[in-house]
Amino acid sequence: MEYADFLDESYEPSDDDLVCTFRLVPGEGISVADAAARVASESSNGTWAALSPESDVRQYSALACDIGPEDEHGTQVTVAYPSGLFEDGSLPQILSCIAGNIMGMKAVETIRLLDCEWPAVIARSFPGPQYGSDVRTELLDAGDRPPLATVPKPKVGLSTEEHVSVAESAWRGGVDLLKDDENLTDQTFNPFEQRVADSFAARDRLEEETGERKDYLVNITAETDEMVRRAEFVDDHGGSFVMVDIITCGWSGLQTVRRRTEDLDLAIHAHRAMHAAFDRLPQHGVSMRCLAQFARLAGVDHIHTGTAGLGKLENEDTAGINEWLRSDLHGHSDVLPVASGGLHPGIVDQLLDALGTNVMVQAGGGIHGHPDGTEAGARALRAAVDAYADGESLDSRAESVPALRTALDEWGTQNPR
Ligand code: 3PG
Repeated sequence: MEYADFLDESYEPSDDDLVCTFRLVPGEGISVADAAARVASESSNGTWAALSPESDVRQYSALACDIGPEDEHGTQVTVAYPSGLFEDGSLPQILSCIAGNIMGMKAVETIRLLDCEWPAVIARSFPGPQYGSDVRTELLDAGDRPPLATVPKPKVGLSTEEHVSVAESAWRGGVDLLKDDENLTDQTFNPFEQRVADSFAARDRLEEETGERKDYLVNITAETDEMVRRAEFVDDHGGSFVMVDIITCGWSGLQTVRRRTEDLDLAIHAHRAMHAAFDRLPQHGVSMRCLAQFARLAGVDHIHTGTAGLGKLENEDTAGINEWLRSDLHGHSDVLPVASGGLHPGIVDQLLDALGTNVMVQAGGGIHGHPDGTEAGARALRAAVDAYADGESLDSRAESVPALRTALDEWGTQNPR
C-alpha cells in the first residue's frame, strides 16, 4: 500500500461511501494529485511508508476520486470513504479520520474540509434532532414567526437577581426565550442552581401574565457528567431546553447530553462559540457547513449559523447552511437555525429577507441597549418580527409601536462592529 494506491479518478463513490470535499494547497514540491492521495491515505489506513499488510485491508481505504476545480484558496479534492472505516454513531471517530492528522500534515500547505455527503448507513447510526424546528409550536407559541430569544447583557457579571429582573422585562416585552450567554455557566456572582430556580419561578409568573409560553435556554456547558446533572436540574425545574457550547465542550460530551435529553424530552440549543478557530480562514480548517452537519447528526435542535453578513460577526454562507439544515437527511428532523450577533429591530427585515422566517432570532445588545430599557427593546424586536410576518414595513408598524420607532431612530439599519 503506497500513496498512489489511494488515488483513483475513475472511481464512482457507492451509495454507502461518505464523500468529503476538501480544498487544498499542496506542500512545496508536491503535486495536487500526490497531495490528494496523501489525504486519502492518512485519513484512512495509509502512512508515509509502503505497507504490506498480511490481510487485505484495502476495503477500509479511502480513495481520492476527483480533483478540481481550483480557486484562489486551492484545488478541490473529493475523497470517498468506505462506511466500514467508521464506528457507528461516533463523531469523534469519524472526525479523527476526515479532519484528523491531515489538517497538520506537511504534504499540504493548507487544507479545508468543505462539505460532506452522508450515506444513510452512517447518518442513521446517529440520533439526529429530537424536535428540530417543531419547537416553534411544540414547545413555544411562535407559530410561523421566528421565535425570539435574548441574552441578558452584560453577558457575565449580573447577579442572579439582576439576571432574573432583566429576564422578566424581556419576556414581558414579547420574547419567547431567555438565553444564557456562552460564557455564563456557574460563576460565583450568578450560580447555576440559583439562577435556574429563580428564572423558572419568574418564567411561570410571566406565562401567567402574558398568556404565552415562555422558556429558558439554560447553558449547561461543563465537563460531561456535570452537564448531565445540570440537564436533570433544568428538567426538575420545568425547563424544556438546554444550551450547550458544542465546540468548546466537544462532540462526545454533546452526544452524551443528547442521549440523556432524549429521556428528559429536552431540546438542545447549540451555541457555536470557538467555531471560527476552525472555519474563519477560508483556505484551512473545517467549514461551518460541516460543523453544522456534525451537530445535526449528534442531535441538536437549534444551532447558531450566522446572520447572512448582517450584524457583528463574520459569516460563511448562512443561507446555504440553513438550507442544508432543513434538507432531507435520511429521515432525520431538521434543525432550527439561529441568527445572532449584533442584531437589532432595524435590520430584521433584511435578515428575514435573506434567511426566511424559519429561523430563531436572538438579540442581546439590540434589546437591552434600547434607550428605554429591556422591556421596550423586547417590544421593539417583537414588533419588527410581527410586522415582517404580517407583510408590513418596519416604519409603518412603528407608527403604532413607539418602542419600535425609538429603536429605529437609535440604530437605523446599521451593522454594528
Ligand atoms: C450570542 O450569544 O449570540 C451573543 O451573545 C449575541 O449578542 P448580541 O446580540 O449583543 O450581539
